[in-house]
Amino acid sequence: MRVMVVGGGGREHAIIKKLKENPHIEDIFAVPGNGGIGYDAICVEDIKATDVDAIVSYAMDHSIDFAVVAPDDPLVLGCVDRLEEKGIPCFGPNKAAAIIEGSKVFSKNLMKKYNIPTAGYEIFDDPAKALVYIEAQNTYPTVIKADGLALGKGVILAENYQQAQKAVTEIMEDKVFGASGNHIVVEEFLTGPEVSVLAFTDSKTLVPMVSSMDHKRALDNDMGLNTGGMGTIAPNPYYTRELAAQCMEEIFLPTMNAMNAVGRPFKGCLYFGLMLTPKGPKVIEYNCRFGDPETQVVLPLLKSDLLTIMQAVHDERLAEVDVTFSRGAACCVILASGGYPVQYQKGYPVRGLNVNAGLENSLVFHSGTQLQNGKLVTNGGRVLGVTATSDYLALAINKAYREVEKVNFTDMHYRTDIGQRALNV
Ligand code: AMP
Ligand code: GLY
Repeated sequence: MRVMVVGGGGREHAIIKKLKENPHIEDIFAVPGNGGIGYDAICVEDIKATDVDAIVSYAMDHSIDFAVVAPDDPLVLGCVDRLEEKGIPCFGPNKAAAIIEGSKVFSKNLMKKYNIPTAGYEIFDDPAKALVYIEAQNTYPTVIKADGLALGKGVILAENYQQAQKAVTEIMEDKVFGASGNHIVVEEFLTGPEVSVLAFTDSKTLVPMVSSMDHKRALDNDMGLNTGGMGTIAPNPYYTRELAAQCMEEIFLPTMNAMNAVGRPFKGCLYFGLMLTPKGPKVIEYNCRFGDPETQVVLPLLKSDLLTIMQAVHDERLAEVDVTFSRGAACCVILASGGYPVQYQKGYPVRGLNVNAGLENSLVFHSGTQLQNGKLVTNGGRVLGVTATSDYLALAINKAYREVEKVNFTDMHYRTDIGQRALNV
């Protein structure tokens, strides 16, 4: 089989490494992939993950048998619809279903209509009305979210009216996120531990994967700016069996059923960003895809064959296949460029990896590397993810950090406390 994976970050590298365990796969094409992914797949560097026309022609020209569309933008743009029109089966939601991530107005209204627990909210298309509402509410922090995709930056936690005003103006008037800011959601601020749950669903059956915990802030002790994610652990110790059962009944299945009811059946990986509030678990966000860097701890714990599951999701026979996770734990530490998520340099040589661009006692997922004259150099804010697994979380964390110490590049930055809070639960 010839498989194509759209995307070029650590998440896609984790998907590719897992797919490679299937002996029926001859070739994997990563579009665009990156320098490190090139050790595991054929990278099509000159096609962007958002260039749907080029992706479709490439897939046709190279007789692709199955495609995995991993990032949010091509999913929201309808990449799956376009590939499937040409007879190429895909893993990932179609455009109609990807709206669950593509529009927060849609997802909030869906949750309200189907009684799925989430933060209270109001929707605005007029900045002046939004500000009158925020001033009248007078409760801070308050949460302001751009409706559409915003490169992970569309959520602002405003501590006071001035910050709220700045956020509303930037999103709705200055249009810093373009048309994504035509509408905003103003939302109640919730508190509690956060849990990420990815689930396979074919719209008839939903199978949650092992839970995980992201570490979004740039610096230790959750200080610094929000990032795409600086590290993850799985499973998430806050997410007990009881909570898992409650989420299945009150959130996961109702979401799958709601998407069916509104004529947008979801097939692919549905990501539930949850907050375990004093009033029970609530949805903070849905993503229509695997999380990054959640995937880098979840897939290494998957014992079943990933391609078999993905094909079953496509064929709507997920109920028939085995989806088993190991009982162990995993920790992924992200090695980032100094200055990320604001300003950083690229092009520094990455030192310490072995001839396969990996490490002996861990998995190395490349997020932002490039080959220059046969040498790996940094090429992004997040550069590498180092994942270790073990029977126990504490051991997985130690192992990951021992491996991290072998790697270096100029201005390399990583958090030293990934998983520490989880160990204290
Ligand atoms: P997102 O960019 O959608 O992943 O959101 C970024 C982060 O903002 C989340 O991981 C939460 O930590 C925080 N957040 C989003 N919505 C709320 C909310 N209603 N209350 C508290 N924190 C929130
Ligand atoms: N790690 C959060 C996300 O993938 O959106």
